[in-house]
Amino acid sequence: MPSITINDVGPRDGLQNQQKILSPEKRVQLIKALLDAGMDHVEVGAFVSPKAVPAMAGADQVLAGLPESGEAVFTVLVPNFRGYELARDAGAKSVSTVLYGSEGMAQANVKMGREQADQVTADILDQARQDGIRVTATIAVAFECPFDGPVAPSIVEELVGKFMTLGADEVAIADTIGAANPRQVRALTESLVAEHGPVKLSCHFHDTRAMGLANVFAAVESGVRKFDASIGGLGGCPFAPGASGNVATEDVVMMLQQMEFDTGIDLNGLMQASALARDLTGTAPGGRSKAWLERYLAKQINE
Ligand code: COA
Ligand code: ZN
Repeated sequence: MPSITINDVGPRDGLQNQQKILSPEKRVQLIKALLDAGMDHVEVGAFVSPKAVPAMAGADQVLAGLPESGEAVFTVLVPNFRGYELARDAGAKSVSTVLYGSEGMAQANVKMGREQADQVTADILDQARQDGIRVTATIAVAFECPFDGPVAPSIVEELVGKFMTLGADEVAIADTIGAANPRQVRALTESLVAEHGPVKLSCHFHDTRAMGLANVFAAVESGVRKFDASIGGLGGCPFAPGASGNVATEDVVMMLQQMEFDTGIDLNGLMQASALARDLTGTAPGGRSKAWLERYLAKQINE
């Protein structure tokens, strides 16, 4: 069976916007539950200003509390060079930097212009090469910006080309506010896969308009084989008005398994992690398939 990699961004994208702030220990507990379910890619935190995002404070303690990673890739988000240095000094081996499809989002998120944000990622790539750290360059608001409106595919294509050339290990296409439709996703990912191949590409969808899974499917059809998702559908960017949670990991994994892709992830374990996310945050609603999945898995256990 062909395989698809899922990177759970719940402990970062999911928790950054919660009213309830979780201690580093609780965040580690959630990450361990994801690992127990067989996940081997997790975005575990962000080295950002604690004034800007209080829920991500103590990312160094999260990194220190993680089990020996083995094959697992633990990524942290870094918005600027200072964040990169803090992450490296805390032992991070994989970072995600942020590029922007629009000027408005760059200003809202990091008080920088788009070009300045490009330069930050270019500088981090230079340094990370020397430090032996892997870098994902994530293009935020790759389809639509809550401030500036629709983003032209040519802007995204140009950014992907530039950062592939500069040596990013991965370029992630992020629909930060969940505004993309599957036709758009299909068209953009098809052209990106044709130009760059699928190996270094990934996609990140939010489920604001209930098109998250359809968008995953559209990108799979184009050949994309790596996706971000968030346990329990947790998530939303505090600086992007109207953005709701990421597409739920349990929905994505269920769909891909039923389509006979290998994800290496155990749905039972994932439902336990999802229940833990709900207990810890008091919000994580669970995926859209939750009721069915619970019945299906209970039946399997009883048989
Ligand atoms: N990690 C921790 N602290 C940081 C930091 C980082 N990566 N970058 C800057 N800081 C600190 C500075 O040391 C300074 O601290 P002080 O007030 O105690 O002196 C303070 O933050 C302000 O620094 P400044 O450079 O003036 O930043 P700013 O106010 O222009 O904010 C960012 C810029 C990037 C730090 C801030 O907007 C941010 O963290 N944004 C992240 C947003 C985010 O996570 N979005 C969701 C994910 S895409
Ligand atoms: Zn997101």
